[in-house]
Amino acid sequence: MTFIVELLMNSSELLDFMRGRRSLRRYQSDDVPRAWIECLLEAAIWAPSAHNRQPWRFVVIEEHETKERLARELGAALERDLRADGLARAVIDADVGRSYARITSAPLLIMVCMSLIDMDVYSDDQRNSHELTMAQQSTAMAGQNMLLMAEKLGLGACWMCAPLFCQDLVAAVLELPTDWKPQGMITLGYPAQRRERGREPWETRVLWR
Ligand SMILES: Cc1cc2nc3c(=O)[nH]c(=O)nc-3n(C[C@H](O)[C@H](O)[C@H](O)COP(=O)(O)O)c2cc1C
Repeated sequence: MTFIVELLMNSSELLDFMRGRRSLRRYQSDDVPRAWIECLLEAAIWAPSAHNRQPWRFVVIEEHETKERLARELGAALERDLRADGLARAVIDADVGRSYARITSAPLLIMVCMSLIDMDVYSDDQRNSHELTMAQQSTAMAGQNMLLMAEKLGLGACWMCAPLFCQDLVAAVLELPTDWKPQGMITLGYPAQRRERGREPWETRVLWR
């Protein structure tokens, strides 16, 4: 990196803040206050979205019983998949146990869903497929807004992809409207761990033309 760019970057509070966000998976048992949750949701909806259609939908999960049901269902699906992959029993048990503990011990879960109800519908599959991608991209951006706001509020958070692998199960447990498609789940709480994580330099991921 040139000296000037390094200087600019080092003096950027926003960049330092973004660099400080980490996926944290272990939390203290304290509840997340309602005002904090509303702040996360407000941050989410200010993400950009394709045609400004705001395809994101959220389910706030605080009830322990709901977390348990979700964890059991996701665990059963994970176990089925890992068995089909031919993994050893001990590995499967460890994975399923970790997933269950992570979901049930998080004080707050936010299921990030997407709806295509307001998106455009075309006469060909290719454009419909791009419309789907745009809705997914928009929803992911809302998720990132929440992760950054969580960091700002002093909360730990982590995006979990498991719901994407069993959307129907999640929809049944949470009694979702039929157009709400789970994309991922953010676990949240006051952090009980610190983590460091590096990045490959952007120079390794960029082409200049
Ligand atoms: C689409 C997506 C799916 C992810 N799925 C999981 C997951 O299922 N379980 C998990 O522990 N972390 C998951 N993560 C978090 C990543 O592991 C994490 O972002 C990555 O290791 C970089 O760490 P950092 O967020 O602390 O920088 C996911 C992140 C993204 C963006």
